[in-house]
Amino acid sequence: MSENNAPSEAQIAEAVEAALAAVAAAGSSEELKAARIAHLGDKSVITLAGRSIGAVAPELKAVLGKAVGQAKGRVGAAFAARAEEITLVEQQQRLREETVDVTVAVERAARGARHPLSTLQERLSDLFIGMGWEVAEGPEVEAEFFNFDALNFDADHPARQMQDTFYLAPEGSGKIMRTHTSPVQARALLERGVPLYIVCPGKTFRTDELDATHSPVFHQLEGLAVDKHLTMANLVGTLDAVAKGIFGEGAITRLRPSYFPFTEPSAEMDFRCFACDAKLGIDTDADPACRVCGGTGWIEMGGCGMVNPNVLRAAGIDPEEYRGFAFGLGIERILMLRNGVKDMHDMVEGDQRFTQHYGTEI
Ligand code: FA5
Repeated sequence: MSENNAPSEAQIAEAVEAALAAVAAAGSSEELKAARIAHLGDKSVITLAGRSIGAVAPELKAVLGKAVGQAKGRVGAAFAARAEEITLVEQQQRLREETVDVTVAVERAARGARHPLSTLQERLSDLFIGMGWEVAEGPEVEAEFFNFDALNFDADHPARQMQDTFYLAPEGSGKIMRTHTSPVQARALLERGVPLYIVCPGKTFRTDELDATHSPVFHQLEGLAVDKHLTMANLVGTLDAVAKGIFGEGAITRLRPSYFPFTEPSAEMDFRCFACDAKLGIDTDADPACRVCGGTGWIEMGGCGMVNPNVLRAAGIDPEEYRGFAFGLGIERILMLRNGVKDMHDMVEGDQRFTQHYGTEI
């Protein structure tokens, strides 16, 4: 410093060099801000030099003024240039850090899907609604009367024995878990009267062991039509429509004689196998090794027949005036065939992968 405390030109030049070095060394806006306070702040040599111009001898004013002006100019420009560089670098770094990779797989809450047995029941109901039928319901805990007596089961029919039927306590309660959806036939006849066209999809219960093709809780689709002049031909046409609705236009059905107490005549309904050559028609032999039909060319779907006059009488309907047909299809069986499900365990175990696989219906 000179005698009046004004920094000398050499000190100013030194301060400029120090400021330029600090600017060059600053790697962030924080460091650059600290350098600005140190080298251009109130207590910096350059600022003090500027303030002291007024106090120096007149002949030194111009020299000092020029030195301070040049110092401020150089240092200021260096700060401005460095600030621009640092801002750019920091901006790029922020952009890099904040980049969102839209292709990264995100963790989503697992989405469930409706059970294919539920969607299949709705599909089947829709088929009938499209033909003008109604959907009826009945209780799963059923009166023995509706499950058996009203359907013309003899008092000693084997299906009444303990091996098939879940009886509800206390003994003699007359309540059971319905063994089929057929009791809805009797209920609908009493509640709705004739003419009647109803289907009833629902749960049924039997004391069967769970295995690949049986479950103690399974589903059936009951159908009942009662009207004047109905014949077996109407039954065959209706079942054909169901087969085509589920398996496509080429589906072929047949009826085989059978026995049910509530239908006369009774039949088992078979679908022509759709998995092997049998699907080409009844004149084409089935593949002997076909796992779906076992080489027979036919797959059993359920029971059917013309409503037994005793069932109509029990509901107060004159069998001389009205006739009906009925059928009961196993829904699990249809799902197995439609979707190639080989084991009924898959339908009851509740594994999400199973429901998700069939969750989206096209
Ligand atoms: C009946 O249950 C009669 N109610 C069907 C009927 C209705 C006949 C109307 C005439 C008129 P069946 O016991 O055969 O019939 O059973 C019908 C279908 O239910 C079978 O073809 C089979 O697909 C299915 N089924 C029977 N038991 C089981 C079980 N434990 N697990 C899964 N499906 C079963």
